[in-house]
Amino acid sequence: MELIVTQNYKQSCQKAANMIKDIIVQKNDAKLGLATGSTPIGVYQRLVRLHQANELDFSKVRTVNLDEYVGLSSDHPQSYRYFMDKHLFDHINIHKDNTFVVSGMGDLASNALQLDRMIYQGGVPDLQLLGIGSNGHIGFNEPADTLIAESHLEQLSESTIQANARFFDKAEQVPTQAITMGIKGIFAARKILLLATGIEKKQAVSNLFQDSVICPHNPSSFLKLHANVTVIIDSQLAQHVDPQKHTICYAC
Ligand code: F6R
Repeated sequence: MELIVTQNYKQSCQKAANMIKDIIVQKNDAKLGLATGSTPIGVYQRLVRLHQANELDFSKVRTVNLDEYVGLSSDHPQSYRYFMDKHLFDHINIHKDNTFVVSGMGDLASNALQLDRMIYQGGVPDLQLLGIGSNGHIGFNEPADTLIAESHLEQLSESTIQANARFFDKAEQVPTQAITMGIKGIFAARKILLLATGIEKKQAVSNLFQDSVICPHNPSSFLKLHANVTVIIDSQLAQHVDPQKHTICYAC
């Protein structure tokens, strides 16, 4: 895993957006695996700015998202489809038909199968963007004795439900289940770019870089099996990574 340390969140987002830009410039019909949550918002803002400055054309770009809450329709303000439209798709020249966020409504088993098909349809993602849960989840693959390879329905852990509660008015509104890509779907991408920010992620980041152990109780540890992973963190989180064990590249 390549580790890039930046000075702050803003610089992390610039770095990530520039990496995405390079992919789209090289391949105008690039396919991106995208994430939601607080972490990638700054990346999407930067991509929107690059588009507005005529530096980035999304007209042929295709996207597939990691996950969606169960029980929220696409027009619900906390659904991940709504999030993607609001933070990215509505501000760039992407064709919405070329974007895919799995539905969290209706026949969930067939929705999960559809997500798996969309990962591979027209070629695998050139890049998968990831955040990380403070418990080490990627996508919504929660720590457990076993992980599921394919896209599936996942019961969210108590800590994830609590972390997501900040986006909802009442605790009972917070979804307890999601459809998520499995580890296999995430790993289909040619390159994985994980962004972490905020001191609440310090344990997750420290565990990710601690040793070469792979354990389903830390789903992010499986990233050690993928040949092309870049992790971007800011200097606050870098204090929790052992510099003896990792080649740290400081972004300029
Ligand atoms: C979101 C996702 C999750 C988040 C993670 C971190 O699509 O798959 O794994 O990346 O929960 O969320 P934030 O960025 O809100 O801390």
